[in-house]
Amino acid sequence: MQISALHLGNFRNFKEKKLDFENLMTIIVGSNAVGKTNILEAINLLATGRSFKARREDEMVQEGEEVGRANGIIDTDTDKDKDALEIVIVKNNSSGNKKRFFVNGVAKRLYNFAGILKVVLFGPWDMELVTESPSLRRRFLDSVLVQTDREYTRSLLSYEKGLRQRNKLLERIRDSEVSRSQLLFWDQLLIKNGEYLTSKREEFIEFVNNTPALNDQSFSLEYDKSIISPMRLEKYANEEVAAAKTLVGPHRDDMKFTTYDKRQTTSDKRDLAIFGSRGEQRMGVLWLKLAELSFIEEKTKVRPVLLLDDIFSELDHKHRDVVISIVGKQQTIITTADPHTIEGFENMQVIQLMNSY
Ligand SMILES: Nc1ncnc2c1ncn2[C@@H]1O[C@H](COP(=O)(O)OP(=O)(O)OP(=O)(O)O)[C@@H](O)[C@H]1O
Ligand SMILES: [Mg+2]
Repeated sequence: MQISALHLGNFRNFKEKKLDFENLMTIIVGSNAVGKTNILEAINLLATGRSFKARREDEMVQEGEEVGRANGIIDTDTDKDKDALEIVIVKNNSSGNKKRFFVNGVAKRLYNFAGILKVVLFGPWDMELVTESPSLRRRFLDSVLVQTDREYTRSLLSYEKGLRQRNKLLERIRDSEVSRSQLLFWDQLLIKNGEYLTSKREEFIEFVNNTPALNDQSFSLEYDKSIISPMRLEKYANEEVAAAKTLVGPHRDDMKFTTYDKRQTTSDKRDLAIFGSRGEQRMGVLWLKLAELSFIEEKTKVRPVLLLDDIFSELDHKHRDVVISIVGKQQTIITTADPHTIEGFENMQVIQLMNSY
């Protein structure tokens, strides 16, 4: 699996930018704010159909422009044909549909688009997965699973849409505009899709937990799932109407990182967010990312493209070596502001990014 070219138009700080990826390894070097992370965001967007960081997807459109786009040429290992992927992002679109997806010029729905390109993205912000809000962890879980399971993507879209509808309905019930019986349709839709999301998230987390530890430090994930079922909806019925919000379901899921040191006599697991040192938290995330790589490979039989955003400065020697040892196993694109951090790599294509203004 390889992305051989990327073309951006009015995407973030890039008016027009073409990049060719010629080698198995590419390093993108450039000073702060030249757009290194934006490039990886675009590649990740082509894989998952979603931005890993934008709160509103139209943030990706260049300031002052209405339409932004990202194109990628993908070599899949399975067939000899290349796929041309394109995402067009429209700002202020009255229909609310901000993104359009195309494969070889043909319009597609997200579930026929996500996962054609497969990537694992690893950047400094991933440390927040351990400590910050549950929504980041859910976004992470989705970004993995939409690349490996078309049905997951379909369920996710259906669930998210259903959730918005159901919440609106709860508001109208609270305001005594409609009767509760109208919820039934949405309840069933959310239960059906929600159960699927939960089961796939569970499967992924189990896979991660079976991934070998790094050195002496062992990690695990505890899935704190918010089960959606007729019984649970029944239980929270009054609260939901009062809050005009759906209170159970995978949109309320969370997961917790725990750790224990094998050298210690006690096998007590500690909560990594609360008790872990910064370094331990980094290791935990590295462990998760390596597991993600294996998971995507196992599920799709394709080694995903590895995107590393300036992470070497975050890691100590030992863990840098862990990353370096896997860098050559798939296409890898690395960004850095400091070219010294990646000395020692061979056969590497270097792309120097300059300020475009
Ligand atoms: N929608 C947008 N329109 C125009 N510029 C944008 C938009 N979104 C972000 N930018 C700009 O893009 C620039 C580059 O951002 P990016 O995060 O990719 O830089 P970087 O090369 O990764 O820098 P660093 O080394 O600091 O991580 C920033 O100056 C940011 O303000
Ligand atoms: Mg950056």
